[in-house]
Amino acid sequence: MLTQWSGGGAAPPDNLPDAPVDNPPDASAAPEFDLAHHGDVEAVPGLIDLAVNVRQAPMPDWLADPITAALGDLARYPDSAAARVAVAARHGRPPEQVLLTAGAAEAFVLIAQALRGIRRPVVVHPQFTEPEAALRAAGHRVERVLLDPGDGFRLDPARVPAEADLVLIGNPMNPTSVLHPAVDVAALARPGRVLVVDEAFADTTLAPGVAGEPESLAARSDLPGLLVVRSLTKTWGLAGLRVGYLLGAAELLDRLAAVQPLWPVSTPALAAATACAGPEAVRAERQIAAELAADRDHLLARLAALPGVRVVGRPASAFVLVHRPGAHAVRRALRERGWAVRRGDTFPGLGPDWLRIAVRDPATTDAFTTVLAEILEG
Ligand SMILES: Cc1ncc(COP(=O)(O)O)c(C=O)c1O
Repeated sequence: MLTQWSGGGAAPPDNLPDAPVDNPPDASAAPEFDLAHHGDVEAVPGLIDLAVNVRQAPMPDWLADPITAALGDLARYPDSAAARVAVAARHGRPPEQVLLTAGAAEAFVLIAQALRGIRRPVVVHPQFTEPEAALRAAGHRVERVLLDPGDGFRLDPARVPAEADLVLIGNPMNPTSVLHPAVDVAALARPGRVLVVDEAFADTTLAPGVAGEPESLAARSDLPGLLVVRSLTKTWGLAGLRVGYLLGAAELLDRLAAVQPLWPVSTPALAAATACAGPEAVRAERQIAAELAADRDHLLARLAALPGVRVVGRPASAFVLVHRPGAHAVRRALRERGWAVRRGDTFPGLGPDWLRIAVRDPATTDAFTTVLAEILEG
């Protein structure tokens, strides 16, 4: 089966500025990065997409059938009860500790809008920029902790200010693909603080001898203030359906639900959430993660042979982060040759010498690295 981690669709041409741009509304902030930039803008039709991390593969029947069946029930308003029960069972929590959302992206907006009393929100970077964008849009003054490429973007929990009352981190992180030990992420939790862990790509990770997702906190209901954000759009290729969820204490989720629009998750999306929580889905996820690891090793071996190209951090997910002086020009040359990779300069903590490259099947990787080698040699 050809497995692609991809994305795309109609998008404007690559006419973005080369340098980070100012990003209102927080005029007091230092020069900002373009937090609203996402890989789908880069993966224009006609380019082979190594910019977006959504897997494209034929939808299995156990997923397609309930989504299709839900189309016959669209006259009714959605009811999330069954999906809540199914997701809760998957993560060993009671249903009150689950809140379905229109993708992980909605979860960040709910957090930013509901937790108005937060005084010192801290976002650990480099990471997916939407959480910080949502916080800023809600008027929060966001502080950043930048992980250091010099030590492989390792998380040192002591670097997060003790006074932070909201901490937001990904695990694994996008764009670094680094998976932090659960113990280090859990060390960030404390009374009086909300700890948001974006596990959008947790299902892509695996470790020898570990049956499930190695560093996930999804089942941890003992950590104070923990909110785990999950997405179903990546592995299951459902970016257009918009489905994800939050896990956390019922009182905290109630506050977030209070600012959520009515019926935010459609009936087909709820059917998908139920199906993706089942044992068949969880088994399939582990298999996909194993195949992904082999494909990633292949990509890493090919990249290691290229001059000046350095993969930084130990990648654990569906993409790798590459440092190469002049990467920005390399990215443009790749586009001229028909390949889209994700620019790195819109991520706080990175710059124009960074690129994020999606893991693809070996044939695509070979074709890509051949073109990349030609560009680098030229
Ligand atoms: C790390 C991370 N979290 C969350 C999201 C948003 O995912 P969703 O499609 O579920 O809104 C993305 C999308 O790219 C992401 O990369």
